[in-house]
Amino acid sequence: MIGSMRRLLCALFSLAVWAQAPDLVGLYLTWNGDPATTMTVNWVDLHTATSLDVHYRRIGEAEWKIATGSKFGIADTTMQGRRVQLTGLTPDSNYEFNLGARIAKAGEGWRFRTMPKDLNRPVHFVAGGDMMHTRARVDKMNAVAGSLDPDFALLGGDLAYANGVSSGRWADWLKSWLTHSVSPDGRLLPMVLAMGNHEVKGGYKGKIPQDAPFFYSLFQTPSGKSYYAQDFGKYLSILVLDSDHTEPIAGPQAAWLESALAARKEQKFVFVVYHWPAYGTNKPPKGSDLPIDAPRSVEIRKEWMPHWEKYGVTAVFENDHHTYKRTYRLRQHKRDDENGILYLGDGAWAVSTRPVPKNAWWLAHTESRNHIFSVRLRAEGTASVKAVDIEGQVFDKIEIAKPRTAPVSSAPPSGQ
Ligand SMILES: [Fe+2]
Repeated sequence: MIGSMRRLLCALFSLAVWAQAPDLVGLYLTWNGDPATTMTVNWVDLHTATSLDVHYRRIGEAEWKIATGSKFGIADTTMQGRRVQLTGLTPDSNYEFNLGARIAKAGEGWRFRTMPKDLNRPVHFVAGGDMMHTRARVDKMNAVAGSLDPDFALLGGDLAYANGVSSGRWADWLKSWLTHSVSPDGRLLPMVLAMGNHEVKGGYKGKIPQDAPFFYSLFQTPSGKSYYAQDFGKYLSILVLDSDHTEPIAGPQAAWLESALAARKEQKFVFVVYHWPAYGTNKPPKGSDLPIDAPRSVEIRKEWMPHWEKYGVTAVFENDHHTYKRTYRLRQHKRDDENGILYLGDGAWAVSTRPVPKNAWWLAHTESRNHIFSVRLRAEGTASVKAVDIEGQVFDKIEIAKPRTAPVSSAPPSGQ
């Protein structure tokens, strides 16, 4: 009941602010720098001469500051993108902002919160992928995400299902996010994004940027690539990978993963996220009953998995198969209850779900159920993960007792 009221209030608030700027196609927050002191504001409309200014101030301060952004084109559409990185922000603080000339009207506009510099309070994020088959259903789950009041959202690909061509689906996805993924106190949620096959013409082995023109124009990642690291002080790093959509799994990306993990030995929590799963729940290849026999899953286990097994991570988020899954703790392609890695997936934010296998040796819990993960990181190095369904009900809980699996000095090739 309380959750429903919160969602209703949230939706009313969102509609109120939406009414201020009806020409907006989208307004969304990302990071290209330190999430404690920067925020990248991106917005999209259909007007070529719209102001590039963002007015912003820390809530409680009297003076507005102005930052002027730059334009970007969005694929070959008439949509006009604008982007500005706000810098010099105060960590763990609430800000209000507004676009262009709307500024002087205090009380209008939108809000965001910077991340803490240190883990001096629990940090909370939601994670999931495979989002929008229908607008109504993604609206509903986006509202659940907002109602959970997270610091940010980690999105694992297959966002708008636009397949690299549909501007209308991107417009719908952006509108849904702005309208519904809003915290109870009216904050927009920053996004950390991975690419999925439905961002790409043909799904896999795409060329950059022409086969994924919307992803590469809408989202400016810290590296400019579809694989990158997002660091949060010394307490959290998220390694985002591209599972063969526009970057090969082997080669430079695998080498980068190894170096990124080596450079983050001291980070307290480390998560990995990508779209196609190494430990899937559906889509077995011809000649097999096991989704983990899919060639792309085998390649991920061969090229990527030894690196995170060697350095230790908190958990790995996977997507694409439209189910809920939590694996047993796994290492070297078998159960290792002491020092194995959790794989959480499998991408069912708001898409139609698929059947799940029975008695798969790697799966501790699986269901055909829409869900998002609600992840809370605590200063003492423990974490809780809750699976929340589209009605806002928690249906699975995981307690993580240590921040990362123990590093293993030399991990032999594994995964077959
Ligand atoms: Fe997918």
